Parts: sequence; C-alpha cells; structure tokens
Amino acid sequence: MQQSLEERFPDVLFYNPALTEVQDNVVIGAGSRVGSMTVVHRDARVGTGTTIGSHCNICACTIGNNVSIQTACHITRGVTVEDDVFIGPHVVTLNDKLKGDPMIYPYIEKGAKIGGGSTILPGVRIGANAVVGAGSVVTKDVPPGALVVGNPARIRQSAPGDQT
Ligand SMILES: CC(C)(COP(=O)(O)OP(=O)(O)OC[C@H]1O[C@@H](n2cnc3c(N)ncnc32)[C@H](O)[C@@H]1OP(=O)(O)O)[C@@H](O)C(=O)NCCC(=O)NCCS
Repeated sequence: MQQSLEERFPDVLFYNPALTEVQDNVVIGAGSRVGSMTVVHRDARVGTGTTIGSHCNICACTIGNNVSIQTACHITRGVTVEDDVFIGPHVVTLNDKLKGDPMIYPYIEKGAKIGGGSTILPGVRIGANAVVGAGSVVTKDVPPGALVVGNPARIRQSAPGDQT
C-alpha cells in the first residue's frame, strides 16, 4: 500500500496532504512546509526550513535551506535556488529558449529576493542578495547585491559600495 505524505515525510508540514502531490525520489528537509495544490516532481531536492506555498509547480530542481517560495510559482527543471532566497508569488523560471538549443537553467544565489510576478529567463544567474522588482522580466545575469526592475530588467541600483 502506498504511504501517505505524513509517513514519507514525518518532519515536513503539509497544509493539506490530500491536496498535495509529491512524486517519487523527492527529498524534503526537516521543518519545511508545503502548501495545498502544489506538485513536487520526481527528483526534486528541497532543504530544511523551507516554505513552498500553495499552487506551486516544483520540477526536478534543487532548493536550499530557509527558502521562501510564495503562492503559484513555477520552478522549472534544473533550477538551483540557494539558501535564504525569497521568491514572491507567481514567479516563473524558464529553461528552454525555444530555439532548439540545449536547455540552460536559472541559478539563484543565496539571499536573493525575487519580486512577485517576475519571469526569470533560461540560464540567468541572480547574484547573492540581489533584488528583482515585482513584474520584472530578467533576461541577463544580475550582479550580487544589485536591484533590477522592468521588462527587460535593468539595473536601478548596483550593490552598495559598487562604483559601476
Ligand atoms: C523594486 C522595489 C524594491 C523598489 O522599491 P522602492 O525603492 O521603494 O521604489 P519606489 O516605490 O520608491 O519607486 C521608485 C521608482 O521605481 C519604479 N518602480 C518601483 N518598483 C518597480 C517595479 N517593480 N518595476 C518597475 N518600476 C518600479 C517606481 O515607479 C518609481 O519610478 P519613478 O521614480 O519614475 O516614479 C519595489 O517596488 C518592488 O518591486 N518590490 C517587490 C515587492 C514584491 O514583489 N514583494 C513580494 C512579496 S508580497
């Protein structure tokens, strides 16, 4: 008989286990929480103390510790999210340019904050502690500590102490 989510992940809080799908070969660390109507796909890795909100689609990706992923995010296959990252509601990450090239995966470094409704294009790297304003379309790498906004996202403020 198939084990329940509570049996498979005794140290994880599922807001409503009957409304959550966690596929095979998934790791979710202790103290993490997962919302309703969320699907965590096969081979996903989620760290400890991380919150994944409701209506999220978490593909085979790597998510660190103490990460917050708000409602209705799409974290696509191959993405890496380091520790202490905040991802606002309705953020979409993408891995295929649709030009026939191999897939390339977004990488979000430690402590970065992504504003709600943003789209992170394939292969883009968001630097540590960078901030992405709400509704941005991020087409290029964001330096650590920078603030970017808009479509396409442009640097509005570089890291403190950065003279560029
Ligand atoms: C980018 C952000 C951090 C800037 O905050 P701020 O420094 O207080 O900015 P202000 O509100 O003073 O706005 C400054 C200027 O930037 C513009 N701006 C602010 N946020 C913007 C955004 N997301 N995209 C485009 N322009 C933006 C404002 O229109 C204003 O333009 P102006 O100078 O021409 O009038 C903030 O607006 C933001 O987007 N935060 C993310 C919120 C979010 O998604 N939270 C998720 C959890 S609920």
